[in-house]
Amino acid sequence: MHPLVNIAVSAARKAGNFIARYADRIEDLRISTKSRNDFVSEVDRRAEALIVDTIRRAYPQHAILAEESGAQQGDDDSVRWIVDPLDGTTNFLHRIPHFAVSIGVEVRGRLEHGVIYAPPTQDLYIASHGSGAQLNSRRIRVSGRLDTDSALIGTGIPTRADALEAYVPMLGRVAEDTAGIRRAGAASLDLAYVAAGRLDGFWELGLKPWDIAAGLVLVQEAGGLLSGVCADDSDDDLLAHGNVVAATPRLHPWLLERLRRAAPKPA
Ligand code: IPD
Ligand code: CA
Ligand code: CA
Repeated sequence: MHPLVNIAVSAARKAGNFIARYADRIEDLRISTKSRNDFVSEVDRRAEALIVDTIRRAYPQHAILAEESGAQQGDDDSVRWIVDPLDGTTNFLHRIPHFAVSIGVEVRGRLEHGVIYAPPTQDLYIASHGSGAQLNSRRIRVSGRLDTDSALIGTGIPTRADALEAYVPMLGRVAEDTAGIRRAGAASLDLAYVAAGRLDGFWELGLKPWDIAAGLVLVQEAGGLLSGVCADDSDDDLLAHGNVVAATPRLHPWLLERLRRAAPKPA
């Protein structure tokens, strides 16, 4: 394994084991609201501190972007760690066992490595640019499903009224012609599931860099295609706008065409 991946795995496991210890003690946690429908607990913050500490011990000079503590510059900004200590906080707080630690590593502006660890299943997803994607040390590939009628598509449903207005027509367009839609509640795992061939495609609007950095590497290395959702979303800078379509090469053009037909037309 690449040394950066070794550290990412060690950090993800430490944080994941810490989170797992609290999964049965949710009622003891202090929970606050960052904004409407956006919760954070002391577990998110302490898991992030464990990850940042692990990275800092190995690479004190690197930059870090972490959900709860924000951006930290380093003397060597050519490497940037992008960290979501607990993706799927709402699931975690409702005792739904579907959440993950997500760590992506960008080198000279390009996403190079992705590590996602899901404490409830102990599944560990790893991908490095040019080296493929793995789930628990086994190579994974996107699904080879050919027909859209049997495709299962993941998504994330926004909670703000203006975002819902743009999103709901998309949901209708995709739902009517597939085997079904899943809103599982952890975007990192949605992308990991596309990489592992469990989902055939996924889209969501307005994701943050820490939700997707690791998952984007996984999908790419598992043979999937990635793009923005709307016509003016750059495909080369998904981290910047966070509107993401990920799917198998066969389904991606179909899914993108459906989403764009439903997207609001620019004024
Ligand atoms: C959220 C999850 C969810 C997605 C939201 C994210 P969090 O992350 O990934 O699936 O729909 O947009 O904010 O808050 O649980 O880290
Ligand atoms: Ca997240
Ligand atoms: Ca989070």
